[in-house]
Amino acid sequence: MPFTADGDPEAGWLEVAESADVAGLKPLAVRCGGRDLVCYRGRSGQVHAIDELCPHMGVSFARHGIIEGDGITCRYHGWNWDGEGRNVWVPTQRRAMAVFDLCSYPVRETDGRVLVRLDPDG
Ligand code: FES
Repeated sequence: MPFTADGDPEAGWLEVAESADVAGLKPLAVRCGGRDLVCYRGRSGQVHAIDELCPHMGVSFARHGIIEGDGITCRYHGWNWDGEGRNVWVPTQRRAMAVFDLCSYPVRETDGRVLVRLDPDG
């Protein structure tokens, strides 16, 4: 079940999880501002928030994503994105394909909470 966002939408930042929820190797599905995202902690320790669904066939990264470094790889066909949602590898094409870039969202952690801002200009 996705974590449901809580927070102050007027301030632009929504609480989507506790820091402890993104401490492991499993991406966390969150529903935030009507969008389905996944949050995960990369190897650098930074938490990332990107669109939940793989743009190839629509599977959930929360269930089928593998955290690699600060990026995420879809378990199905091995497509890979960096922590900013940029596609960096499509195995069958042997290259990145920017057309499959994902939306990524600013994340900050404070007092054990993970907050996401959906609109960077908001
Ligand atoms: S379904 Fe994700 S790479 Fe194919």
